[in-house]
Amino acid sequence: MAETASAVRVGIIGANGYSGIELLRTLSLHPHVHITYVAGSRDADGGLLAEQPFLRTLTAPAHTHDGASLAALKVQQFDPDVCAAACDVAFVGLPSGSAGQVAAALYERGLRVIDLSGDLRLPAEAYRTWYGRDPVPDAVLGAAVYGLTEWRRASIATAQLLSNPGCYATATLLALLPAVRAGLNRPGAPIVVDAKSGVSGAGRKAVQSNLLGELAENFYPYKVGRHQHTPEIEQMLDPDGGVRISLTTQLLPVARGILSACHVMLERPVTVEEVYQFYQDCYAAEPFVHVLPPGQVPQLKHVRGSNHCDIAIAVDERTGLLQVFSVIDNLQKGAAGQAVQNFNVMHGFAETEGLWAQPMYP
Ligand SMILES: NC(=O)c1ccc[n+]([C@@H]2O[C@H](COP(=O)([O-])OP(=O)(O)OC[C@H]3O[C@@H](n4cnc5c(N)ncnc54)[C@H](OP(=O)(O)O)[C@@H]3O)[C@@H](O)[C@H]2O)c1
Repeated sequence: MAETASAVRVGIIGANGYSGIELLRTLSLHPHVHITYVAGSRDADGGLLAEQPFLRTLTAPAHTHDGASLAALKVQQFDPDVCAAACDVAFVGLPSGSAGQVAAALYERGLRVIDLSGDLRLPAEAYRTWYGRDPVPDAVLGAAVYGLTEWRRASIATAQLLSNPGCYATATLLALLPAVRAGLNRPGAPIVVDAKSGVSGAGRKAVQSNLLGELAENFYPYKVGRHQHTPEIEQMLDPDGGVRISLTTQLLPVARGILSACHVMLERPVTVEEVYQFYQDCYAAEPFVHVLPPGQVPQLKHVRGSNHCDIAIAVDERTGLLQVFSVIDNLQKGAAGQAVQNFNVMHGFAETEGLWAQPMYP
C-alpha cells in the first residue's frame, strides 16, 4: 500500500486491549496513517508481538515511522509528553476513569484526541450519577464533541477532542433517531430497548463471569435499570430530556456483536412500508448503515468484523408498536471502526478509508 505525503502520525493508548487491537488492525490498512506510538499500562519488551502474536502480518512498512515493522513497535508505559512529541492524533482505548485523565492530558498538549471511553460523553452531574466518580475538568468536558458519525458530521469535522459513542448507544441511536426525530414515538411513553452484546464488550481483563465455563450455553441480563449508556442515548434522542428509554443489556455467549431491539409506542398509526421508506431516505447516502426491506431481520454474522450497521423495521399493528432492530460489531462500528470513521471526518479523508473490511461469514 502506498504511503501518502499527508500521512497523519497516530498513537494508540491501550494497544493491548480489545479496542486497541482492533484499532491496530484497522489503521494498519489506512493509507493516510503512520502509527508512531503505542502504549499500555506497562512496558512490553517484545513489542506488540509479545502479547499479540496474531499481529505478525501487520508489517506494512509504510505505516510506521522509520520504515520499521508495525509489529516491532514497542509498547510503552504511557507518558503524555512522549506521546505528544510522537503523534498528531491519539486514540485512547482505556477503561473509563483512566481514559478521561489521559485524554485531558493530551488535549491540553494540543493533540487531536479520539477517546473511546465513557468519560467525555455526559455532562458532569450525569457522569457522577452513572459512573460514580468525578469527571474531568469542565474545560475539557466542554470541548468534547459526541461522535455519532452519521448524525454529527459538522461538529466532528472541527473537533480537537472527540468522544466516541458507546457500543450499545451506537446500535440503539442509529435505530431510534430517525423515528424520534420524526415524532413517531408517543410523547411520555418510554421506549423499551432490549439489547444484547457479545463478551468482548466487557474488555480483555480477566473476570470470572466472563470465563467460557460461565458463559457457554448461558444467557442473562446484567446492570438492569442502571446501564451507563442509558443517559448517553437519552440525551442524543432529545437534549431537552423529553424521551426516556428503559434499557436492558444482556450478555450473549459470542465474542463479537450487538443486537439492539427497540420497541416504540407509536403516536399515530403507520404502515411498515411508510416507515421503511422513511428510514431508507434517511440513510440512503450512508456507506455503513443499511435498512433492510420489510420482512428481513438483521443478524450478527452479517456485520461481524466490519463497520456496517444493519437495521430492520417492523410495525406491530395489533399493539401499536414500532419495532426497530439493529446489529453492529461492538469492536468496529461500536468502537474502533467508528473511531476511524470519525478520524476520517476530522481530517477530510473519505469516510470509508481503512474501513473496507467486509463482514466475516459464517
Ligand atoms: N470492548 C468494546 O466493545 C468497547 C466498545 C466501545 C467502547 N469501549 C470502551 O473502550 C475502552 C477500552 O475498552 P476495551 O474493551 O478495549 O478494554 P480492554 O480490552 O480491557 O483494554 C484496556 C487497555 O487499557 C490498558 N490500560 C488500563 N489502564 C491503563 C492506564 N492507566 N494507562 C495505560 N493503559 C492502561 C490496558 O493495558 P495493559 O494490557 O497493558 O494493562 C488494556 O490494554 C473502554 O473505556 C470501553 O468502555 C469498549
